[in-house]
Amino acid sequence: MSGHDSAPQPMQASKSPGLAGAAKIPGDKSISHRAFLFGGLAAGRTRVSGLLEGEDVLATGRAMRAMGAKIVKEGAHWLVDGVGNGCLLEPEAPIDFGNAGTGVRLTMGLVGPYDFGATFTGDASLSRRPMGRVLDPLRLMGVQVAARTGDRLPLSIRGPRVAAPISYRVPMASAQVKSAVLLAGLNAPGVTTVIEPVMTRDHTEKMLEGFGATVSVETDAAGVRTIRLEGQGRLSGVADFVVPGDPSSAAFPIVAACIVPGSDVTILNVLMNPTRTGLIATLTEMGASIEILDPRSSGGEDVADLRVRHSALKGVTVPAERAPSMIDEYPVLAVAAAFAEGRTVMQGLEELRVKESDRLAAVAAGLAANGVEHVEGPESLTVTGRPDGKGIGGGTVATHLDHRIAMSFLVLGLAAEKPVTIDDAAMIATSFPEFTGLMTALGAKLESLAE
Ligand code: S3P
Repeated sequence: MSGHDSAPQPMQASKSPGLAGAAKIPGDKSISHRAFLFGGLAAGRTRVSGLLEGEDVLATGRAMRAMGAKIVKEGAHWLVDGVGNGCLLEPEAPIDFGNAGTGVRLTMGLVGPYDFGATFTGDASLSRRPMGRVLDPLRLMGVQVAARTGDRLPLSIRGPRVAAPISYRVPMASAQVKSAVLLAGLNAPGVTTVIEPVMTRDHTEKMLEGFGATVSVETDAAGVRTIRLEGQGRLSGVADFVVPGDPSSAAFPIVAACIVPGSDVTILNVLMNPTRTGLIATLTEMGASIEILDPRSSGGEDVADLRVRHSALKGVTVPAERAPSMIDEYPVLAVAAAFAEGRTVMQGLEELRVKESDRLAAVAAGLAANGVEHVEGPESLTVTGRPDGKGIGGGTVATHLDHRIAMSFLVLGLAAEKPVTIDDAAMIATSFPEFTGLMTALGAKLESLAE
């Protein structure tokens, strides 16, 4: 049973002594989804190590099984035997993606061009999120869509006899939309082109190449990227695929160490792909002590260990262009900003409104409930901090089925004067099931209030 079906699990975080020790961060969620998707599609076996076993990723694994892939866990590894490009089977039943936006959007792209029907469902959060951003380019390729309410789940799609390759300029900064179009292109004859005005995480293009697809990327002087993919090529399993640690999960212990006085924590095996490191850049500008230790390459990606010590933070203005490289980290950055001297201004946040919750509104409400001075704009957030944490805390935060809102406000409680309660910790399992254990081992005071 997934978290959203069960009774809410309130949790409280209290002022903690300095956090200390080393923690290994679980696998990257974006790369783990893609390991199941591409491994399940490619001919032959992919052996995956370091996979994130969060509910979102497991939903993608079930979807690929429903379309013919064989996926089993053997010891610490996942063995994925794929069907071969172009050979997915029609799913017999609706596919439930739970809370997973990446899972459903990428899978809709993957199966869109197939000449069969597929139905997608999700939890209350996912059913509120816009799917038109993926369905619009699929329609251009000849895919038919049947949805009850707007372009929202539950919905069904059916591909044409032969899909038309397209050239598509992605209208918003979205790796999911870029990826859905490229994945649809895998089963269309000819070249599918995606034009990406603002670079977003590049895991799809990098990994597709690793699985044998013919992909090229050109970046012009203005930074606009043109990605071309040759359709209907052969994809082959990757003998040993390694998933690095998730920087978006690392963000929680990193910020916790920055704001809890006396902390000295080392986070091991963090993905340092430049499309994902915006939070580290921002915290460093704020005065955080983050040392990058042992930078190395793992599975074709840069990784490093990060030593983070409590630091006196000061407010900064975060450039809007940085948003795509830290889009999932704004809630926890707002928490860091609550303990920084002066104002932190975050701009270009329009995409936060369509995440697992309206994250801009959810963060603002959580800050308000806990006495943190802030101003919410249509696409911006300004937070005025209190380095001593005085007056912060004492509130209950509505998490709206959003794992990152849950974890961010638990981190707030670790340095606040008064405890912080969240209404439901269940969704944390979608992306970071180890969160409570890992944080507690570092010394964080977290207490379940569930009956
Ligand atoms: C993701 C892309 C981002 C991000 C999400 C994971 C991906 O979403 O917020 O957590 O794996 O491609 P958008 O593409 O909607 O910005």
